Amino acid sequence: MTQHNIHLYYKNVTSEVIGTEHGISKTQFDQLAQTTAPLIAELNRQRKAGKTPYRDLPYNETYPQQVKTLAQQVRQNCETFVVLGIGGSALGNIALQTALNPFMYNLDDKQRSGPRLFVFDNVDPHQFGSFLEWAADKLDKTVFNVISKSGRTAETAAQMLVIFDLIEKKLGPDGLKKQVIATTDAREGTLRKIADAAALRTLEVPDGVGGRFSVLSPVGLLSAAVCGIDIDALLAGARAMDARCSSENFFNNPAALNAAINRHYYHRGKPISVMMPYSYSLKDMSDWYRQLWAESLGKRNDLKGNEVCIGPTPVKALGTTDQHSQVQLYREGPNDKLFTFLQVDQFNRDVIIGPAPKNAPELSYLAGQPMSRLLNAEKVATEYALLHDKRPCLTVLFDAIDAGTVGQFIYLFEVTTSLAGLLFNINAYDQPAVELGKDATFALMDKPGSEALAEKIRPFAAMDQAFMS
Ligand code: PA5
Repeated sequence: MTQHNIHLYYKNVTSEVIGTEHGISKTQFDQLAQTTAPLIAELNRQRKAGKTPYRDLPYNETYPQQVKTLAQQVRQNCETFVVLGIGGSALGNIALQTALNPFMYNLDDKQRSGPRLFVFDNVDPHQFGSFLEWAADKLDKTVFNVISKSGRTAETAAQMLVIFDLIEKKLGPDGLKKQVIATTDAREGTLRKIADAAALRTLEVPDGVGGRFSVLSPVGLLSAAVCGIDIDALLAGARAMDARCSSENFFNNPAALNAAINRHYYHRGKPISVMMPYSYSLKDMSDWYRQLWAESLGKRNDLKGNEVCIGPTPVKALGTTDQHSQVQLYREGPNDKLFTFLQVDQFNRDVIIGPAPKNAPELSYLAGQPMSRLLNAEKVATEYALLHDKRPCLTVLFDAIDAGTVGQFIYLFEVTTSLAGLLFNINAYDQPAVELGKDATFALMDKPGSEALAEKIRPFAAMDQAFMS
């Protein structure tokens, strides 16, 4: 089988195409190469020193083996597989499912090669309540994968407590052993404690790998394997991209080019980075990317402790849907965005457009044409219109969408993020700003030990009627 690849196309950010005011000149590209090449070497050194363990996940042989064994067990008697997690413990799972399984997967038995999949990454009672109502008499055929490094994340913990209670009441204490798999820290944390005490089946969240970099670990692999996704091909794709992203030749390294171009535009009045797939399958990859980019690069302090309050703002859009929603702004609004299109060369299936009625000859140009041609024409048309208005555009071109190219894409954007972190001179692997909101939630939910914070929050929590209109 021919191996498909992805490619980063960057001509449409050059001054040759969009002029010198907004484009990058040859000299500027050479400067970017000079600044970035030593950082590629630095990232390679960090990896050798064990500081970026996510880089080695595609080479780990134990995790895929464990995942496949467990997936095989699950598939024997499971009609619905449910992931309970949030942030890095959910977005990758959703992205893989949307990218690699058919749109009607959950509804059409013929298009499904595994159980239905639901990923709950919220605590919305309307949503979760509806699911519980549907699942109540199907619990013995439903497997829940609780994913949390810590086990203390309020959303995941709340969902887990609801499910545990339900399973224990309906299926007895042994039900948990059959219907729940925990993915968590190998040794410590609340979920590890609970899982060990209840003798649950478990997988580990690898040490030193943050949630948003964990999709190629058991965190993302189990739901993928259960739903029939070829995880070996996914990891092989990531390894293929690793070779490209480790190259110290700037122009041969798509992660280096991508990071350098993004950082260049951030400092050139374009702090917004729009990812716009022209493929519904890739739409949730933008959500995954949005978390990776925002949590990794949005930082108050640089590595020396100076206050810099830096970070590009990732925005997701979908072609063609958002042509009818956002493109007006993108073309005529402020020129403060870098666009990254995701384009697919060969779609896995196509639909031929039907004939035009005799009374509507103005539609006959569409008749007989493949829908993929229209979708890709609209991508080029939108890009052309943006270039006309001097808006810089990158394209990630997929030869086709399969597990291999998706693995390449994930790895490309993970390494891009690491390199962007070095270029911005910030720590891309922590998320200190998320903590205050988490602690405030604990306080508002009356968690013991949070009383002092609850007191501070009180004036903000009570709505002041004087300001209610
Ligand atoms: O990327 C991250 O680190 C976060 O998004 C976490 O994945 C998220 O907060 C969930 O944390 P936990 O796995 O501890 O429940």
